[in-house]
Amino acid sequence: MSRDIIYCAAGNRVLIVCGIIGVCQREKLVLGEPIGSFLKKALQRLEYRGYDSVGFAVIDKDRRITLRKKKGKLAEIENILGFDAFDGVVGIAHTRWATHGEPSDRNAHPHIDCNGCVVVIHNGTLQNYQELKELLISRGHLLRSDTDTELIAHIIEEKIREGLTPLEALRETVKTIKGAYAFLAYICKEPDKIFFAKNVSPIVIGLGNGFNMIASDIPAMISHTKRVIVVEDGEMGYISPDTIYIEKDNNTPIDPMSRVITVDWTPEMIDKGGYPHYMAKEIYEQPIAIRSTLAGLPDQITDEILRILLRARRIYIAGAGTSYHAAMVIDFMMRNIVDLDSRSFISSEYLSTLRSLDDNDVFIAVSQSGETIDTLMAMRRAKSMNAKVIAVTNVLGSTIAREADYKIYMRAGPEIGVAATKTFATEVITGAYIVEKLCLVRGIECSQLSKEIRISPSITELIINKYFKEMESLSKILKEARNMYFLGRGSTLPISYEGALKVKEISYIHAEAYPAGESKHGPIALVEPGFPVVFTIFDDEYGELIINNIEEMKARGAYTIIAASENLERQLKLANKPIALPTMRTPVASAPYVAIHQMLAYNLAVSRGYDPDKPRNLAKTVTVE
Ligand code: G6P
Repeated sequence: MSRDIIYCAAGNRVLIVCGIIGVCQREKLVLGEPIGSFLKKALQRLEYRGYDSVGFAVIDKDRRITLRKKKGKLAEIENILGFDAFDGVVGIAHTRWATHGEPSDRNAHPHIDCNGCVVVIHNGTLQNYQELKELLISRGHLLRSDTDTELIAHIIEEKIREGLTPLEALRETVKTIKGAYAFLAYICKEPDKIFFAKNVSPIVIGLGNGFNMIASDIPAMISHTKRVIVVEDGEMGYISPDTIYIEKDNNTPIDPMSRVITVDWTPEMIDKGGYPHYMAKEIYEQPIAIRSTLAGLPDQITDEILRILLRARRIYIAGAGTSYHAAMVIDFMMRNIVDLDSRSFISSEYLSTLRSLDDNDVFIAVSQSGETIDTLMAMRRAKSMNAKVIAVTNVLGSTIAREADYKIYMRAGPEIGVAATKTFATEVITGAYIVEKLCLVRGIECSQLSKEIRISPSITELIINKYFKEMESLSKILKEARNMYFLGRGSTLPISYEGALKVKEISYIHAEAYPAGESKHGPIALVEPGFPVVFTIFDDEYGELIINNIEEMKARGAYTIIAASENLERQLKLANKPIALPTMRTPVASAPYVAIHQMLAYNLAVSRGYDPDKPRNLAKTVTVE
């Protein structure tokens, strides 16, 4: 896949989550249809981003605000919301993917201030949410939702009450909030405008005749304009039917016209935000997904969670498919770094594994969807034996999250590709972060682990950008293979299993993973000249041990692909295809290094003519046992 086709605002720096659209028109029907109909169609074009609720506000010339919102998918609720019946001069609309507060009617956007004069929609997460919420409540604000977004409306309300103009209020609001955001605000003091501000989350302005619009992505606007301005981090301003005002760093105006670009998109590119497949989009999203996970963890990993883990007699960690492999990494770190008595297992094996638990034991359910029946059943069995239950999941309000005693959300954004990618990386990072905190409580030295957690987003970014094309070329060499092995030792075993799973589920090449040391006890019998064997090696105590296993495979003529820390020159020299990766020494490396396996599997599927987003016989979420 050419990097050129990746649209910059929806590219590898942003977390795809929530959809935003706003429009101001000089008169009704300048858009050629009621504003409500336009908003509905725009949201449909943003559906690929994933969402759980929908809402909009339409404002007419005499400042009357109509606000409607509801939990559910557009197709199910569009008639209840009745978009087409509403016309006006300003409209904003939103598809929400829950981050603060479960999916519900009242948490859906837009949100309003106490006086009903400021209406806000938002994409992103505010890091100082808790602190701002307490402050606003102490000042007498009435909060009607559990969202971070609503806080923005109340902060603007305060600033306006202090006598600031809407633009000044916006500047002050941006100084107050921390985190990732792209938000739109209607402020009734200046009723022909939509104010906006952006940091990290994407936002694009669309230029028209007698109207201007603003959205989280170009597809929402493409029916009405192809002339756009990509808003950059740290910028804010407003649009009105005839003006666009942008400023940077809190009051340096920018000439918007110098930034206008004309886009020419195919429908294929539009649906997937510029990527040929959701899986590619989600592979590229990993750096920002990991950043988002890391930003959300400090508030969630409470002292109580750490205490129950450190006091546990045994810790059971269960997951299915990719989540099981993440459970393996978490288990490995808990045993080897913190010296806890943990064990990971495949969720569906709960009957044979969970035999005699009690309230001294802890069970951790790892599940992207939070709905996988095998993991849910395992969790219920552990709970019925009084074990304390922690859920690590990506979906707010999912069944596993609801039934757990403690929940930890990854906040990786929606994952649509059936083959999990970014949620593996973020599950691993969640586990690594917990392990880091456990080390700190126990006084265990973990500076290397801490460092690798923090650099994992940039290393993942580097690996993806450097190796996507190489994995595409490698896939051309391997595409006729009928079998493959993925071998690892110790720390690299879980991502070897994950690599084999990815290859078999989307490219349909038979792939197996083994502990490299075990490969001589049977698997090697299949190896003949040209048989592809992928070794993954971190710079740790297993890096030396694996050399013999590589030699054994080479002696049988295997085609060796070695993805290793770049300082492991002896190991890399043994490869037919060496892949030298930034040196990492702890199991945190599982998150960045797995991108190699994902990109190889993805490109193998594409080279063999299969659609990686629609693997046969598989479902994203499996709710039958
Ligand atoms: C299905 C999917 C896998 C996924 C597994 C567990 O089998 O096809 O990609 O890893 O379920 O899903 P979960 O939502 O529990 O992580």
